[in-house]
Amino acid sequence: MENLMELLETRRTYRRFGQKEVSQDIIDEILMAARLSSSAANRQPLSYIVVKEADRVAEVFSHTKWAGALPPEQGQPKEGERPVLFIAVVENLDINPNCDTDAGLAIGNMTLAAWNRGVGSCIIGACNKPVLAEMFGLAQKQALHSVVAFGYPSHASHIADMEDPAQFKYYLDGNRDYCVPKRRLADVVKYL
Ligand SMILES: Cc1cc2nc3c(=O)[nH]c(=O)nc-3n(C[C@H](O)[C@H](O)[C@H](O)COP(=O)(O)O)c2cc1C
Repeated sequence: MENLMELLETRRTYRRFGQKEVSQDIIDEILMAARLSSSAANRQPLSYIVVKEADRVAEVFSHTKWAGALPPEQGQPKEGERPVLFIAVVENLDINPNCDTDAGLAIGNMTLAAWNRGVGSCIIGACNKPVLAEMFGLAQKQALHSVVAFGYPSHASHIADMEDPAQFKYYLDGNRDYCVPKRRLADVVKYL
């Protein structure tokens, strides 16, 4: 995609995917994008676990929750719609115990780099972290921040102006495409 603003607008959260694998070439770019992200005091406390083997992806998936705003039958990806790749974001608390912003920046880079190659993503904070930490063999000093799911989307997602400030929940339209209300700039920006 040539235009950064177009990339930003179309890089939405995707929750249903075709079952085509993501090439190693693209995985390498996603990881390089994470590496290039800013880090407080340049400490770089993050590391990444790539899960791309189908059985393992299925196992990770079984410990994830999708689309909390929707009933599970609408939001939870069904068989044949599930992601084909997970990348776990791991914090080293000895290097920096407060690295939530680092993780957010790295994940932002990863999801953009993926989308730049047509790969959609969903950040998953709602996962069974103790079980996944065990599966990933994390050490005492390591904490699982989140897992990011990837795959080629099989639905669209559009942003909409938020008419009512209380109505922030995303929803599905008649095509089962996601609609994501965003607050208007006029409601969140003040010039001094
Ligand atoms: C920190 C964080 C955690 C998230 N965790 C989940 C999650 O556990 N499951 C899920 O389906 N979506 C999750 N999301 C995706 C959000 O629901 C999504 O970003 C939001 O609805 C806005 O949609 P958009 O990304 O298309 O703008 C998470 C997003 C962020 C930033």
